[in-house]
Amino acid sequence: MFHLECIDCGERYDPRKVIYTCSRCGGLLSVKYDFSRLPSRLDNEWKRHPLSVWRYKELLPVERTELRVTLGEGGTSLNRCLRLSEEVGLKNLYVKNEGENPTGSFKDRGMTVGVTKAVELGMEKVACASTGNTSASLAAYAARAGIECIVLIPSGKVAFGKLIQAMIHGARVIQIRGNFDEALKIVRSICLSYPIYLLNSLNPFRLEGQKTIAFEIRDQLNGEVPDKIVVPVGNAGNISAIWKGFTELHELGLIDSLPQMIGIQAEGAAPIANSLKRNLDHVEFVNNPETIATAIRIGSPVNWKKAVRAVKQSHGMVEKVSDAEILEAQRLLAQKEGIFVEPASAASVAGLIKIKERGLIDKDEVVVCILTGHGLKDPNIIMKQFPKPVEVEASEEAVMNALMPKKSIIEAPARM
Ligand SMILES: Cc1ncc(COP(=O)(O)O)c(C=O)c1O
Ligand SMILES: [Zn+2]
Repeated sequence: MFHLECIDCGERYDPRKVIYTCSRCGGLLSVKYDFSRLPSRLDNEWKRHPLSVWRYKELLPVERTELRVTLGEGGTSLNRCLRLSEEVGLKNLYVKNEGENPTGSFKDRGMTVGVTKAVELGMEKVACASTGNTSASLAAYAARAGIECIVLIPSGKVAFGKLIQAMIHGARVIQIRGNFDEALKIVRSICLSYPIYLLNSLNPFRLEGQKTIAFEIRDQLNGEVPDKIVVPVGNAGNISAIWKGFTELHELGLIDSLPQMIGIQAEGAAPIANSLKRNLDHVEFVNNPETIATAIRIGSPVNWKKAVRAVKQSHGMVEKVSDAEILEAQRLLAQKEGIFVEPASAASVAGLIKIKERGLIDKDEVVVCILTGHGLKDPNIIMKQFPKPVEVEASEEAVMNALMPKKSIIEAPARM
């Protein structure tokens, strides 16, 4: 029903083999399905199940679905944002709130499939390098499956909420004195030498779970395809996965157009945005990536080739935004729409604002921003920006005084 295929040389691989990249040319692998063997009324089949990752099991690379390791991932809300739309100058702006997933980020979509795959392949240990969310998610799904989890993180550069998630779920957490790119290099090498299953987005099965974001958007918009999908980009797995989801729907005749994929990177970690702007045919990596959006603080995105193809095939673009723009977008989402996201997620909205200002988007276009992770994961970034709430005596008078400076109390009745 499915196999692995190299995106560069086309070599095919047995999906029952533990393999992450093409052994012939080193290229990235992708999962291919035999569409002729899918149920003819796939759509009706899907409608019988609630919105979730596993609703789409016919297009997931799992043979023994009874083994599935699940915490109820997917089925996240797609919110129309009227107040934010006004701010941005658009009429049809939606946000898909991936912070609603079990561990608070879109990674859970990938991990439910990836860890199920680990179990199916008989692996008893899983590992990843992480900027935080991958480790939080993998730790939870490994615990659910009863297998061991090892995570490597860049020391001091993982948001507090994510670190404690990995710890409470019992992962073996190792902080390295280096960045994410270095951590990934080490963990890749360890997984090739020992029977430990790698669950970074290099793993093609994990991305299959993440492509369900596209399937859900199509179902939530009743078959309508957005004009633009805006996604924060780090290791570039998610933008590639979402694009794959839409192209599969298109090939199956379940949608009749494709969206443009818009990737957003942080200015200090923007290898893809910079390389595309210079019209390079490859991506020049950034050695010392830096941004307050630690989730996307990545200088050597392993999936760059898939992502660049997604952007080019969809006639999309990759833009970069400053830390200040990210924080402003985070505040806008929280105060205009009541949605609290972590800085990396706000990058999508910050990027959208920039693109709109440059006139690269029409006000009538249907746009979906992917909000990748929950704001509670990174409380310190908020504490750094806002003054501490005022403290007063425990009396009504003191509270009223604090709420209204004396002048406005006198003025208030006059306005009535
Ligand atoms: C909250 C958040 N947003 C965006 C990303 C970027 O996703 P990708 O690495 O697939 O590009 C990550 C990755 O860690 C993340 O945690
Ligand atoms: Zn190859």
